[in-house]
Amino acid sequence: MIIKTSAIKILTSIAVALSLSAVSYAQDAGLIWDGVYSIDQASRGETVYSETCVSCHGQDLGGNSNSPGLVGMGFMFLWEGRTLGEFFEKIRSDMPTDRPGQLTQQNYLDVLAYILLKNAFPSRTEELSSNLDILNEITISSK
Ligand code: HEC
Repeated sequence: MIIKTSAIKILTSIAVALSLSAVSYAQDAGLIWDGVYSIDQASRGETVYSETCVSCHGQDLGGNSNSPGLVGMGFMFLWEGRTLGEFFEKIRSDMPTDRPGQLTQQNYLDVLAYILLKNAFPSRTEELSSNLDILNEITISSK
């Protein structure tokens, strides 16, 4: 009986520890509508965009006859319910199409922040996390 009680106590404290770590993990990731990138980061991203993406995706991110738009309903249609991790991987592995993977990890993150800004997602003081596990926890959702 004594052994059983202490086993339960140990299990309970493990469960508490696990749920506590789950909570702090969720706070690190944050919700897209609470803000996940900073304005400074998005303006660096704007520079990257105008150097490497604008020729195909357009000044207003509306796309052209060969390249899809990256804002508005078209964006949400493709990306709603998916995560920033997936979005990041898509850009990093396929863009720009003429030389995929050529930018630095930081440049890809910054341009991602710029696309979020142009889709009217809110900013915060901290930059977007570069941790893929955290990006995978942030779901793109409409308000
Ligand atoms: C040479 C033209 C070209 C350049 C430059 C280019 N893209 Fe693209 N992009 C495309 C084409 C074509 C597609 C559609 C095919 C695909 O999804 O792979 C696309 C698709 C995308 C998608 C997926 C669209 C969606 O909504 O699913 C994203 C996001 C994207 N590009 C971002 C970027 C970013 C960011 C840059 C700059 C770092 C960039 N692209 C540079 C041509 C280009």
